[in-house]
Amino acid sequence: MGAGSETSASTMAWATHLLLSNPDCLSRLRSELTQAASSSSQPGCLTHMDLKSLPYLNAVIKETLRLRPAATRVMREMDITVTAHAFGPDGVERQYHIPEGTGVEISIYSLQRNPQIWLRASEFWPERWLEADAEDEEDWGVVGVIKSHVRNKGVGTSQG
Ligand code: HEM
Repeated sequence: MGAGSETSASTMAWATHLLLSNPDCLSRLRSELTQAASSSSQPGCLTHMDLKSLPYLNAVIKETLRLRPAATRVMREMDITVTAHAFGPDGVERQYHIPEGTGVEISIYSLQRNPQIWLRASEFWPERWLEADAEDEEDWGVVGVIKSHVRNKGVGTSQG
């Protein structure tokens, strides 16, 4: 990974591509930005403080990072021994014993596109993040060790 520059540049490029490929999203974002700029404390100019009133922009960034993560995987070494359960492609649940010291690779890309976790997994759908912004923490799903920011209703389904 080219530290912060390559990751930021490629994410911006993907956001542009995804917005141009989804004109409805681009239009909604443009409306939000135009409205925020006119009601900003410095009219016509958006400041860092205005980010709080730009939920759709935040949703677009999150959705871009989900679909096109600049870092597609991370490597880690287990510092504890764990027994984990997971379903294979055949749908059968298996138990995995992972001893301390084992090197593991976590595929960010696969997790973020898994249709068992995400509704409409392969679609650019920023609205999913607006719904997940609900304050009810219990409504949010936890998948493995990653708090998924996906409502429970999305887990275990592949509906689209
Ligand atoms: C879209 C933009 C970015 C993405 C997707 C991204 C992604 C990541 C990921 C996945 C890691 C963890 C790597 C690992 O532990 O194996 C990481 C680490 C790091 N990133 Fe970024 N990054 C981004 C932007 C930046 C920027 C702008 C900076 C600095 C200005 C930065 C500085 C760092 C540093 C210092 C670490 C190491 C942190 C540590 O291990 O203590 N990143 N980044």
